[in-house]
Amino acid sequence: MSTLRLSIIDAALSLPIRDDINLLEQCLSANLAVARSCRNGNCGRCDSTLLKGRVQLRNGLHVEGPATIALCISHAQSDVQISQLPLVKSPSHWRCQLQSPAQLRLPAGRQIPPRKGDICAILFENAVELNEVADISGRDIHLLSACTNSPANHSVSLITIDRDHQGLYALWREHQHQRQTLWTHINHATAVIAQAAYQQNTDGAHYHIEHIQKG
Ligand code: FES
Repeated sequence: MSTLRLSIIDAALSLPIRDDINLLEQCLSANLAVARSCRNGNCGRCDSTLLKGRVQLRNGLHVEGPATIALCISHAQSDVQISQLPLVKSPSHWRCQLQSPAQLRLPAGRQIPPRKGDICAILFENAVELNEVADISGRDIHLLSACTNSPANHSVSLITIDRDHQGLYALWREHQHQRQTLWTHINHATAVIAQAAYQQNTDGAHYHIEHIQKG
């Protein structure tokens, strides 16, 4: 392991970094809320401009700046300078129609769809299913796996999440004095995004986040 420096030009920030941990993880450790989802170089959410320096990608290829790199699969090989670090601006949440078990349709109107390769969660009334965006065509979102939960033409929410979303929180639903756990062992940020998406339902239910005791 050697100690190098990462300079983020547009944030006027310079961090000591290691060559054995990818650049995304090191930015997150420095409390930089970098946009991310798949953590395997597919979705493009963490793409940044490598201005100077050399990185090694997860597949062993070496890249020198100037170039666009996915931070989640890049390890520094020298001091590096990057710009256009993509920061999380707002939770990504879409209300969609389930057309078939593996296809959702966005409502008409201008909106930026999720990205191919995004890891996502589909929020059904009584359960949450993890999935991945396999493709986007027009308003249609094609999922990698068929949903098991709901009939066609059902309205659901889709949120994009970090692949690394596990944690010590649970989200539960309370309706007419019935309590039901929807999603458990997730981190707080994921629970907050899912809660905000569920709270747009007009079903009269309340959605709560709870810390889970370890062990
Ligand atoms: S490309 Fe880095 S999180 Fe998807």
